[in-house]
Amino acid sequence: MTDRAAAADTATAPAYAAGGRPAPVIETRGLTKRFRGGQVAVDGLDLTVPGGSVFGFLGPNGSGKTTTIRMLMGLIDPTSGTATVLGRPMPQASRTVLPEVGALIEGPALYGYLSGRDNLVRFDRADPTADPRTRAARIAHALERVGLAAASAKKAKAYSLGMKQRLGLAAALLRPRRLLVLDEPTNGLDPQGMREIRSLVRELAAEGTTVFLSSHLLDEIEQVCTHAAVMARGRLLVQGPVAELAASARGRLTVTTPDPGEAARILKEHGLGGVSVDGDRLTADAPPAAVELADLNAALVGGGVRVRSFGIEGGSLEDAFVALTGEGFDVAG
Ligand SMILES: Nc1ncnc2c1ncn2[C@@H]1O[C@H](COP(=O)(O)OP(=O)(O)OP(=O)(O)O)[C@@H](O)[C@H]1O
Ligand SMILES: [Mg+2]
Repeated sequence: MTDRAAAADTATAPAYAAGGRPAPVIETRGLTKRFRGGQVAVDGLDLTVPGGSVFGFLGPNGSGKTTTIRMLMGLIDPTSGTATVLGRPMPQASRTVLPEVGALIEGPALYGYLSGRDNLVRFDRADPTADPRTRAARIAHALERVGLAAASAKKAKAYSLGMKQRLGLAAALLRPRRLLVLDEPTNGLDPQGMREIRSLVRELAAEGTTVFLSSHLLDEIEQVCTHAAVMARGRLLVQGPVAELAASARGRLTVTTPDPGEAARILKEHGLGGVSVDGDRLTADAPPAAVELADLNAALVGGGVRVRSFGIEGGSLEDAFVALTGEGFDVAG
């Protein structure tokens, strides 16, 4: 575990910060939050979110995602370190930065006795830059986008968790934003609702909005995000383009055979590590690039092993995560 952690530490430098790319929309340096009572929720975070990205902020429960987002939005002060959002320091520049940022953070504050639509009227009225003459159209459009048009007259207290999430998202979409910060936006949504939010996020990104969203669902991040960062226990394990992160996880050689013992012996002889057998299925660390897979297969067959299937499996973001943390993703930090 300790050498894994050390290896992960060296991987935190953003690979994509080279010149010629858009300026970062969010950047933190050494961002740290220690709560009263001594718990370090966020520990020396160096995060770089490129402009125009859909950035997935991944981590198991309690890994510090919401705490980070609350610092980025100026809702709580960091214990140490710095954060800039849209190029300006937070929380100092909250008044100029926040109108350009749409945020949905853990359970939006709604007025239960008001309808969904009237909740949006209140949010819109609270925005001094919002033109009252176009209010109704703006609200109708936001309700439409999040799929709440039909339920807009219902009181918010009668909304399901997923409907409340949608209403919070609608509030974040009332005006065009340069940045959307969404904390677990699909929390409480059914699979169809999750798909709708994913396509909405893609649509917003296509319009040029940078979207920063937290999630503990790896496949969700893989489906919608261009970039991702992985947190565990308050620390950043890795960040970068999703394609690079997934590719960095070398898959495992997987062989199915009725002769797994003999196959294991031969593969070990050929220098493969991490060999393990489960029934008729054998897996091993993927061989180095210099080793030709066909040669390994031939060695098995030549040694009398009856091979049913042979190949490299995996190489997903989930594999990358497991390789980094040495544990399943859903294990809390
Ligand atoms: N106000 C607080 N006071 C003390 N500890 C806190 C406070 N808020 C959060 N924490 C602790 O900080 C750690 C990180 O919490 P945080 O809410 O940021 O995690 P998270 O990644 O958002 O988790 P989840 O996926 O469950 O939403 C947790 O151990 C949590 O108990
Ligand atoms: Mg959270």
